[in-house]
Amino acid sequence: MNTKMIAPSLLSSDFADLKTEIAKVTEAGAHLLHVDVMDGHFVPNLTIGMPVVKAIKGVSKIPLDVHLMIDSPEKYIDGFAKAGSDYLTIHIESTKIARDCLLQIRKLKMKPGITLRPGTKLEEIKPYLALVDLVLIMTVEPGFGGQSFMHDQLEKVSWLKQYRDKNKLSYLIEIDGGVNPQTSQLCWEAGADVLVAGSAVFTGEKTADNYRKNIQSLL
Ligand code: DX5
Ligand code: ZN
Repeated sequence: MNTKMIAPSLLSSDFADLKTEIAKVTEAGAHLLHVDVMDGHFVPNLTIGMPVVKAIKGVSKIPLDVHLMIDSPEKYIDGFAKAGSDYLTIHIESTKIARDCLLQIRKLKMKPGITLRPGTKLEEIKPYLALVDLVLIMTVEPGFGGQSFMHDQLEKVSWLKQYRDKNKLSYLIEIDGGVNPQTSQLCWEAGADVLVAGSAVFTGEKTADNYRKNIQSLL
């Protein structure tokens, strides 16, 4: 597998002009739109919920990669399906019934993803790797954009790549947090398929041309 996809995180876009930002970043070559959902409990920040995801879906030509940073995601899976999520990723620390959540996500025709905080061991998600289409490795503490990349998380990426090959699995490996033109190279080398980038994509002039340059510099 050699995909190399970029998923701009809308958290760093201009929320007052979301429709235009989505159009520009799509024209610039984004593969997925990364949508960060935070509840003020699982992480100390509040962002957007289902009505906004639905509005984004209504204007997006590329798939939505929805990253849930919320407690008890099982309560909201149905809602995020109805809102039009394509990938739906849950945190292993956020629920006692991860397996049920992942099966439910699949049943509702979305692609299930699993993720973990930097301090959580890979062993925690190992039982679920055969059930998911995406594994997200957090290279910052979830909650905010613009933080620095945690290099020590890259060994999780290499392990996931080996494990996937050995067990003939097919999940995408995605990295989120502190991705910039320097750290992106390390991510690709470690075996990432998808890089999430917020501040590195939405920096500088708000034009499709500039966003294209920013995306290209990550590839
Ligand atoms: C952090 C979010 C990220 C964030 C990344 O909790 O999951 O998606 O937007 O932002 P940057 O790329 O600026 O680190
Ligand atoms: Zn995210």
